[in-house]
Amino acid sequence: MPEYCPITGTHITGRVGFTEDILPIFRSFDCPVMRNIFDVTDWESCRQRASQIKQRVVDRGDMPPGGLPQQQRALVAEWVKDGAPKYRGNKYSAYFLEVDSYTEYFSYYNAPENYMPTVLEYFDNKMEDGAKTINAWWRWVLSKGLPEETQERAVLDGFLANQQVRDAILRVQSLMQRLIVGHFPGPAGGLDFVAFYDATECFARDILPPDEDRRSRVRNSIPAGASAEQRQELETYADCYARYHRMDSEPMWFNWAAHADLALMLETDADDANRTKQAQMAVAVCGSVVDFVFRQRGRTRDAYTVNPGRTLLSMRSAAKRHRDNLPALRQELYELVQLYRTPQPNPIA
Ligand code: HEM
Repeated sequence: MPEYCPITGTHITGRVGFTEDILPIFRSFDCPVMRNIFDVTDWESCRQRASQIKQRVVDRGDMPPGGLPQQQRALVAEWVKDGAPKYRGNKYSAYFLEVDSYTEYFSYYNAPENYMPTVLEYFDNKMEDGAKTINAWWRWVLSKGLPEETQERAVLDGFLANQQVRDAILRVQSLMQRLIVGHFPGPAGGLDFVAFYDATECFARDILPPDEDRRSRVRNSIPAGASAEQRQELETYADCYARYHRMDSEPMWFNWAAHADLALMLETDADDANRTKQAQMAVAVCGSVVDFVFRQRGRTRDAYTVNPGRTLLSMRSAAKRHRDNLPALRQELYELVQLYRTPQPNPIA
């Protein structure tokens, strides 16, 4: 398996995680002297200093004092190269795989009673460029701020007033929350927000480990009579396809619809569950910025595209700020939607 995808050029992360691989090494060097400088057992502190750690542990080899065996230094080097994730990539991608499986299940086994057909019918008629997922979500957001969108808002409100639709949405909502907290548990039954954001960031950058199910699906479809050259081409394609987003088509749409709904419910809810919803929304907003910058889709703030590395860092802190500040989260969402809808100059003209 090449380290870089020959088609997308993306680097694949995830063989080394802080919790599984680095912490057991660092823990034995936890001492008051080092704690005065930073906590080597805390993932966020170590990630902030990842390049210094690489320099001292790997390049110079003078930290911890006496140095680490070569094999452990190699692990640290790989962890830093991968963006210093909290967990191995497989743990991160397990969440996306599960969301995908559940939403597929929901979509296929609840039809036609569930709200999917109604939703798709409603949005299908209004799609501009076939981007159902994003359009549906953003259209809803826009409908809250622009007077000329009042009519759309009325249509959507009518749709959400349908009890069956609301029940289905609430079920997806609680499913999503259970999945998020289940995969990224925090202290006292809460959410490990930073790990959830980190996973989404990796997802948005297409750097999670390959999806073996996708790879084998393409490989199994290679015709028995394919020439060696065709086979080679399709196998390369299979490798790359396995590295793209796992959630797509209806399930992906479904996931974003849940985000739209989150925003709706945030207006009325004032309970604790609201925090998880707001966290989910903050991750969706900042994760989509990373997606738009790193996958070069444009249509986000120009400032975000100037220095992708800096955007990555600023989105990590923005996600936390937005999680704690609903008006700022809404404002950012609203402005990003407007940018998305701004017509783009024709690159050929
Ligand atoms: C796996 C464990 C360790 C790692 C990853 C690590 C990493 C680092 C890094 C990155 C720095 C530079 C910090 C900066 O410039 O701001 C540093 C400095 C330092 N560390 Fe550690 N360290 C470890 C263990 C230890 C231990 C066990 C001791 C105590 C005996 C220690 C003592 C020091 C001291 C005194 C400094 C400041 C002086 C200097 O920069 O050389 N470290 N360490």
